Amino acid sequence: MHGVKRGILISFEGVEGSGKTTQAKALAEWLSASKIPHIFVRDPGSTEIGEKIRGILLDRKNRGMHAKCEVLLFLAARSQLTYEVLLPALKEKKIVITDRFSDSTFAYQCYARGLPLRLVTVFNRFAAAGLKPDLTFLVEIEAAKRRERGKYVDRMETEAEGYHQKVQRGFELMAMRARKRYRILDGERSVDALHQEVVHHVKEILLRKGYKI
Ligand SMILES: Nc1ncnc2c1ncn2[C@@H]1O[C@H](COP(=O)(O)OP(=O)(O)OP(=O)(O)O)[C@@H](O)[C@H]1O
Ligand SMILES: [Mg+2]
Repeated sequence: MHGVKRGILISFEGVEGSGKTTQAKALAEWLSASKIPHIFVRDPGSTEIGEKIRGILLDRKNRGMHAKCEVLLFLAARSQLTYEVLLPALKEKKIVITDRFSDSTFAYQCYARGLPLRLVTVFNRFAAAGLKPDLTFLVEIEAAKRRERGKYVDRMETEAEGYHQKVQRGFELMAMRARKRYRILDGERSVDALHQEVVHHVKEILLRKGYKI
């Protein structure tokens, strides 16, 4: 890792059931097998405080939560994750894989729920210490296919289908705006085919950043 300045932040984004966690975990296993130091986190979550906030966000009893309360809770959890886990790991030159990050907030709370993107972007920058992913995988999937993949019962997942389409559109817009860091994956391909594609892109960035693989 001679010449490596800091670690690499890789995020997985997409609507529920698209296959983010499946691919993020497979990547973590590949990094383990390749003996490349890394951590795997989920946002919100992966700190004691963040997991408690996640519980509040996903609790079906909290249907009355205002959109502003919701976004601030997501940012609160992300802030704790950033300072407690992400920044130290990146400083230690680890690869950080995160199951969702800031773009989920922009897609769900801004594009789909209508909160002001510019303001939330500023709050998010404050919460996440300006941290941005170096590489983002957007796993895309059609609504019908998504529904076939198991039961979705937590608070976020019981939202109307139109909402998910807006979320999907939000992710697509962000991917267009940040082409350099985005890699769009066709979530309807096999788990293995997608994993090969993920590894291909990750190898590329590892080499570019000076890692030995
Ligand atoms: N490429 C694929 N082909 C078919 N099924 C898949 C594929 N990827 C994941 N699945 C299955 O679809 C379901 C959802 O996958 P996964 O949990 O990875 O999605 P997710 O995007 O993390 O969802 P969530 O947002 O709810 O956490 C799981 O049952 C998983 O086994
Ligand atoms: Mg998941």
